[in-house]
Amino acid sequence: MKARCAVVGCGRVGTSLVIHLDRVGYPLCGVASRSAESAEKAAGLVSGTPYSTDPVAVTRDADLVFITTPDDTIAEVAEAIAAAGGFKQGATVLHCSGSLPSTIMEKARLAGARIGSMHPLQSFAGADRETNPFEGIIMSVEGDAPSVELALGLASDLGARGLTIETRAKTMYHAAAVVASNCFVTVQDMAWQFIGDAGVSEEDAWSVLGPLIEGTMANIRKVGPVAALTGPVARGDVDTIGTHLDKIAEMKPGLAALYKALCLHTVDMASRKGTLTPEAEEALVRRLTS
Ligand SMILES: NC(=O)c1ccc[n+]([C@@H]2O[C@H](COP(=O)([O-])OP(=O)(O)OC[C@H]3O[C@@H](n4cnc5c(N)ncnc54)[C@H](OP(=O)(O)O)[C@@H]3O)[C@@H](O)[C@H]2O)c1
Repeated sequence: MKARCAVVGCGRVGTSLVIHLDRVGYPLCGVASRSAESAEKAAGLVSGTPYSTDPVAVTRDADLVFITTPDDTIAEVAEAIAAAGGFKQGATVLHCSGSLPSTIMEKARLAGARIGSMHPLQSFAGADRETNPFEGIIMSVEGDAPSVELALGLASDLGARGLTIETRAKTMYHAAAVVASNCFVTVQDMAWQFIGDAGVSEEDAWSVLGPLIEGTMANIRKVGPVAALTGPVARGDVDTIGTHLDKIAEMKPGLAALYKALCLHTVDMASRKGTLTPEAEEALVRRLTS
């Protein structure tokens, strides 16, 4: 029999869970949120679902409790439910934060619950029945062994692929996701600014840079980032990097430090790839740190 679920925190992720837990046959004991409006709206998506602004009213009979409140409130929400006797003995409590470990809900464990986290690697902008945001994505899972087992089964039921990680690895896992997505976008903004200075309009920027970006992605996918590295740093072309630094200092001084930092890491990659002579490596480092 599927676990009876409660969802505390009816925002983007919580409401998506309400819809899709119901769709794949997990019974809902109820939903709770800070405001009655959010709780009522989420409950209205699955007819007959009780709702409350008091989490304990919906969690006390649940086998599986999701705490989908903002990251900085998860620990206090878990603690308040535990203090009010709102977790059934042996119930599993999961949060969905990517950066925080399950151990922030230690008070729930001390109250007799099992704890874990289940992070969907997805950007949730809203929630609807038509699209399943869990389909085909990775859900990283950590926590007590029984919580991990339950969360892996749930991830699979939702259409996702569960990935077990160590509790202590959560922060680096999340940092990797931030670099792969957010920092990638940041670097593209830098390229967009440079190409603008080169006289290409914003509308044309993608047609100029897009094929290069997509080709680079395809190479990374095939051989990994180090082997995919090309360009002046990998070739040890110190003069080219020097002219870039001079021009960036003149046109976009605010981006000079970032360009230097990125190129310094690129020197390290080129060294691992084995394409730099020791002399070229030393000259590049000297130029990039001066
Ligand atoms: N959004 C994403 O793309 C995404 C992706 C992966 C993981 N996550 C994780 O999922 C979790 C939820 O994120 P979200 O984006 O869904 O947040 P959100 O849209 O801001 O929703 C959070 C909800 O929690 C409710 N809430 C706040 N404080 C509360 C409290 N003390 N007690 C009960 N309910 C409370 C809010 O209630 P009211 O509306 O009632 O005021 C709000 O609806 C976070 O851990 C986040 O890191 C988010």
